[in-house]
Amino acid sequence: MHEKIKKAVFPVAGLGTRFYPASKAGAKEMMPVVDKPLVQYAAEEAMEAGIETLIFISGKSKRSIEDHFDRDFSLEKHLVRSRKSQALARIQDIVPPSINCVYIRQPLPLGLGDAVLQAEPVIDRDETFVVVLADDLIDAPQGSGCTKQIIDVYHKNPDPDCCVCAVEEVPSKDVHKYGIVNAQPADNRSAQVWPVQDLVEKPSKKEIVSTMAIIGRYVLHAGLFELLKKTPKSVDGEVQLTDAIRQYAQMHSVLAAHYHGKRYDCGNVSNYLIANIEYGYKRPDIRQHLDRYFESRQKQAESGSKPKPQQ
Ligand code: G1P
Repeated sequence: MHEKIKKAVFPVAGLGTRFYPASKAGAKEMMPVVDKPLVQYAAEEAMEAGIETLIFISGKSKRSIEDHFDRDFSLEKHLVRSRKSQALARIQDIVPPSINCVYIRQPLPLGLGDAVLQAEPVIDRDETFVVVLADDLIDAPQGSGCTKQIIDVYHKNPDPDCCVCAVEEVPSKDVHKYGIVNAQPADNRSAQVWPVQDLVEKPSKKEIVSTMAIIGRYVLHAGLFELLKKTPKSVDGEVQLTDAIRQYAQMHSVLAAHYHGKRYDCGNVSNYLIANIEYGYKRPDIRQHLDRYFESRQKQAESGSKPKPQQ
């Protein structure tokens, strides 16, 4: 029987070196896209999918994530007193009272697989849970976020112990940045959900079997923890989640699900900036400023003068 998936794991202990110095003393997951931190988008996507417990695998310099999801009564009181009702609405109920937040420290920076393993004490023996990587910001239709999409795939599969990885096609020059799945049934290339035959983490040129990349959304079964404990570290000293899923695929069904939506890899500075522009364009109060700015930039390019900053 498929039980309801109630828990989401957010590995947020990563150093975020690509954002140094910005993330030196703070969490890269707290960096905003427009005015909301990346980790809040991830939490909202999970809660929209029916998740009731948010498990953050945290680390050094990540206290701000706990503070963000906690209520701050003195700040709320201050905003009430100073009649800043809009600001108050934006910080109240970031997480509704019915949602549990759990924080676990990852003692050593041993990679994504090790981060997921830290959740073992709060996941039941036979439980299926999701993993959401906040770096991958996914813009999907309201009510049908990527996490909900892969949970739906899980529920439609007859095996309650199956795992699901969200995937997308990436250019072959980028394959070395991802976990890559080999899931290509010859007869049905148009299907959205494919059984995975094999997986390889960040393949070298010789190892490339496809361009179907795992993106940061997984449905996983607790049976994976035992495999994670036995997974040898990769050359960079990290335990790879992909390696453990590869083992799991030899015993149970693992599915690759093409999701609907647009992903912004916010672990990368240029894509993070693009995400800010795209999400800014979604906001009526910001769109016109961006339009004016880009128009003036265009004119500047044509005339050689400087673009005017927007007020
Ligand atoms: C991690 C995973 C990789 C996956 C990627 C998605 O890599 O190890 O398999 O494709 O997330 O964003 P990272 O981006 O942490 O290097």
